[in-house]
Amino acid sequence: MSASEPSAAESEDAGHPGARGAGRTPLVAGNWKMYKTEAQAESYIQGLLPRLSSVERVDVAICVPFTDLRAMVDSTRGSRVEVFAQNMHEEAEGAFTGEISAPMLSEIDVYGVVLGHSERRALFGETDRALAQKVPAALAAGLTPILCVGETEEERDGGDTERKLRHQVHEDLAAVAPGDLQRVVIAYEPIWAIGTGRVATPEQAQEAIAFIRALLSDRSVAPAGDPEIAARVRILYGGSVKPENAQELLALPDVDGALVGGASLAPESFAAIVAAAEKALA
Ligand code: 13P
Repeated sequence: MSASEPSAAESEDAGHPGARGAGRTPLVAGNWKMYKTEAQAESYIQGLLPRLSSVERVDVAICVPFTDLRAMVDSTRGSRVEVFAQNMHEEAEGAFTGEISAPMLSEIDVYGVVLGHSERRALFGETDRALAQKVPAALAAGLTPILCVGETEEERDGGDTERKLRHQVHEDLAAVAPGDLQRVVIAYEPIWAIGTGRVATPEQAQEAIAFIRALLSDRSVAPAGDPEIAARVRILYGGSVKPENAQELLALPDVDGALVGGASLAPESFAAIVAAAEKALA
């Protein structure tokens, strides 16, 4: 083999859509859910920012209630923390009492938005049909969507995990323009692992996320599908991520970060997960 030829390991890596060579920067995002008043959010961020001062290779986001957005955008300016909303309506404006639109979020410098979280699907009737409009609407407004997908315990036990993931990926990304797919972040959140303390095994997380990446490279499933684009999409794991289990999960080849619920609510534990993500890169 000549010096210019890649080694077997390198060429295998380059052909593997999950290869870190695709340059995916890990993202650790804290989903606060319906926690923290503005005053509590301010106190939290003052505790978090100094704890992130040595972070260099991991992107950090907080996904906060609407009422905290403006204060968190102001308080995180110049830091590496990006601020996300937790939901939005698919239309830009209209007679939709109680809703918030993508242009409203982007105008106040919100970075992105969580879409299709299982709590919104299960408790608030969020549908794949609405998500098919929400994802492109977020992108059109310059927001980064974090699209959540995942199976119930019943679906996993019934061998239906792949069918569920294929359905959600197919439906929710159906209207994403070619070239925009790599701006979407996907979070694989098995519903049975959310808020339960039960975490997917590394094998389960890697297998499901590699499956999602394979779906993204398939044009018949994701319209913009292409192996090269799929290799650039960040796919996070979510569900009972804690400082103790983060490093093992984040070291998996296709896992590009975490969407953290409960353990993101204290700056100490959230910063420890970010630190684990940096260590996992080593
Ligand atoms: P937990 O980390 O509390 O299980 O929540 C996960 C989640 O739903 C993040 O969006």
